[in-house]
Amino acid sequence: MEKIELNEPRVLNDIVFSDEKSKSKLENIISGRYPFPAFNKVGILIYGVWGTGKTALARLIPDLMEKAKIGEDANWEFNYCKKGGNGSLLLDKLEAKTQTVSFNRTGFHYIVLDEVDNLTDGTQLHLKALMNRKDVIWIMTTNYIGNIDKGVINRSHLIEMNAASAGDWLPACHKVLKQFGLRLPDAALEPVISSCDGSARDILNAMIEIGVEKSSS
Ligand SMILES: Nc1ncnc2c1ncn2[C@@H]1O[C@H](COP(=O)(O)OP(=O)(O)O)[C@@H](O)[C@H]1O
Ligand SMILES: [Mg+2]
Repeated sequence: MEKIELNEPRVLNDIVFSDEKSKSKLENIISGRYPFPAFNKVGILIYGVWGTGKTALARLIPDLMEKAKIGEDANWEFNYCKKGGNGSLLLDKLEAKTQTVSFNRTGFHYIVLDEVDNLTDGTQLHLKALMNRKDVIWIMTTNYIGNIDKGVINRSHLIEMNAASAGDWLPACHKVLKQFGLRLPDAALEPVISSCDGSARDILNAMIEIGVEKSSS
């Protein structure tokens, strides 16, 4: 059997969205149909429950955006905000870094802050102040939007990522099973998908399990 791969999402269409509005809003922001950064909004805040692809999506955005603007991949950096970590040091570092000239042809700095709710209230105030800059694009994720500073929210476009319906997951599931040479009826997959409560990790792993089991019997 060929090697089975669970590829990380590479384009927006690889991501299963729970809500079509969030997807089209993001598409408009990325393509530039919706001016961004503009009107004092410089952030994209992706929020929703665990395992729905927020981090995977955040990692895609800098390249997609720079490609849409200028046709090249972006220079960007990923920062995981650790609970109890030194967020204030992190923001000092980012502040210094974004004062240097960007490597991107557009001149923008792209900064991903994963699980930004782990920054303390004080550090979030620092972040809010940095968000007054016009040449830094902040891409943030959180499972706990209630713990995000109102000023940060106000400077961001909100993108909701919650559990997508079983129906929305069917194409991605069939794609995994196809690697095993399997085509199962939707009705056989829907209950399995539903039992995963929207966690992409669980859904994709359940498909692998089915694939391994059925293709070896
Ligand atoms: N909506 C999705 N569509 C396609 N793949 C997904 C989706 N959500 C998650 N995945 C896959 O599951 C993995 C875990 O998702 P992750 O981005 O870490 O979720 P979250 O940050 O919301 O907890 C990702 O690396 C990706 O491969
Ligand atoms: Mg995450």
